[in-house]
Amino acid sequence: MDGNGRWARKQNQNRTQGHLEGLKTAKRIVKAASDMGIAYLTLYAFSTENWKRAAEEVGFIMGLVKRYLIEEMDFYRQNGIRIRHAGDFPGLPEDIGQEIQKALEDTKDFTGLQVILALNYGGRDEICRAVRRMAREPKFSGEAAAVTEDLISQYLDNPDIPDPDLIIRTAGELRTSNFLLWEAAYSEYYISDILWPDWTEEDLRLAISDFQKRERRFGGVIK
Ligand code: IPE
Ligand code: MG
Repeated sequence: MDGNGRWARKQNQNRTQGHLEGLKTAKRIVKAASDMGIAYLTLYAFSTENWKRAAEEVGFIMGLVKRYLIEEMDFYRQNGIRIRHAGDFPGLPEDIGQEIQKALEDTKDFTGLQVILALNYGGRDEICRAVRRMAREPKFSGEAAAVTEDLISQYLDNPDIPDPDLIIRTAGELRTSNFLLWEAAYSEYYISDILWPDWTEEDLRLAISDFQKRERRFGGVIK
């Protein structure tokens, strides 16, 4: 969800206004994805590198996430939306952690769209934490051959969630920015110049129909 700052600058507003508008877009896109019957939607809201930003901006983003979790509970219930989290949970501010925990708990039985909030998320960090979890397991000590791709996948943050089919990057940057490095091995990328606050349901539809035209070979050949 990139481009909040640039959107604000274009309107001669400060960056926080861009994040506020970005939150409205997140709600819009979550509703659209839910209505379309999409099973999983990961929102990259805050990276392990975003702590480098000014404390004021970081605090504002965290406050927005907290508000989003609290105020949208009726919406999750009405739409059967289940909230998940990806990222370094212990590294989150305590109040945000508690709110996420509550949302995970309150929505755990909902069977519609699963919205994964990538918050304090980094792809390298996720792999690193997975390897640490594996290293703690006595059953693997010295068993190098037990380490397989499937096994590593099982130690990532949400092992039950399949790898993403489509990764959408808004605001035109041509880089992964540390997003789902392991899971994205064969994801299709869609890069749009449209800034995140300007994204609409129609843009999501266009991205998906572009994706549907792609030929996915996963390194093989189509006969
Ligand atoms: C994305 O918008 C939102 C977050 C990273 C939280 P940016 O804040 O990165 O917006 P730009 O890149 O400055 O336009
Ligand atoms: Mg950015």
